[in-house]
Amino acid sequence: METTTRIGMNKTGIKSSPFDTRALLEVSDEAAPSVPGPESELVALKMSYAKEADALGSVPPPATVKGTVKSGVDAIKGARPQVVFDKIAERLAFERTGVRLYEALLVKHAATDGLESIVPAAELVKIRDDEAAHFRLLVESMESLGGDPTAQTPCAAATGIAGQGLMQLVNDPRTNFLQSLQALHIAELTDVDGWAMLIEIARSSGHTKLAEAFQRAEQQEERHLANVRKWMLGLTKAELGKA
Ligand SMILES: [Fe+2]
Ligand SMILES: [Fe+2]
Repeated sequence: METTTRIGMNKTGIKSSPFDTRALLEVSDEAAPSVPGPESELVALKMSYAKEADALGSVPPPATVKGTVKSGVDAIKGARPQVVFDKIAERLAFERTGVRLYEALLVKHAATDGLESIVPAAELVKIRDDEAAHFRLLVESMESLGGDPTAQTPCAAATGIAGQGLMQLVNDPRTNFLQSLQALHIAELTDVDGWAMLIEIARSSGHTKLAEAFQRAEQQEERHLANVRKWMLGLTKAELGKA
C-alpha cells in the first residue's frame, strides 16, 4: 500500500496541457448551466422523477402493548411517535455503519507498517466497541418505546445510502490509512451532531430519561472526533516531516 504522497505523472489537471487549455475553457463557457440544452432536459427529467417517486418507506406501528400505550400518550400530547422512531432508527443505522467503518479501518491499519506510534490499534478497537454500545443503547431505547429496532425506516434508509460512500472509501484497496480516515472524519462529525439533535428531539417529545442516556453517547462521540482529528493531523504532519 502506498502511504506516501508523491509527485508523479498525473495528467488530470488542466495545466498538464497548456496547449488545450484555451479550447477547453471555450467549451466550458458554452456549456454553462444557464444555456438551454440537454442539461436542462436532464434537470426537468430529474424533477419529474422526484415529484412522482414513492417515499423511501414508512415507520411500522408500535409493536408491544406497552409501546401502544406509550405512543397513545404521545399522540394525546400532540407528538407523533413515528417521528421519534424514525430519528432513533436513523441514528441506529448510522451507529451500525460506524461499527463497520472501524472494522474496515482496522484492516487498513493491520496492512500498514509504522502506524502504531501515531494511531494505536487498541484505540480503534475501543471506538468500534463504543459504536457497538451506542447501537445497543438505541436498540433498547427503541424497544422501550414499543418500536421495532429492526425496521428500515425512511431516515434509516437515507442513512444507509449516505453511508455507502463512506464504506466504499475505506474498503477501496487503493486508499491508504490517512485517506480512509476521511470517512471516519465525516462519520464522527455526523455522530456528534446526530446525537445532539436526537437529545433535543427526545427532550421535546417528553422522553427526558432517554435524552439523559443519549448524552453519554454524545460525550463519547466528541472524544472520537477529537481522536480522528488528532490522527489525521498527526499523520499529515509526519508526512510533511519526511525526507
Ligand atoms: Fe457512535
Ligand atoms: Fe463515533
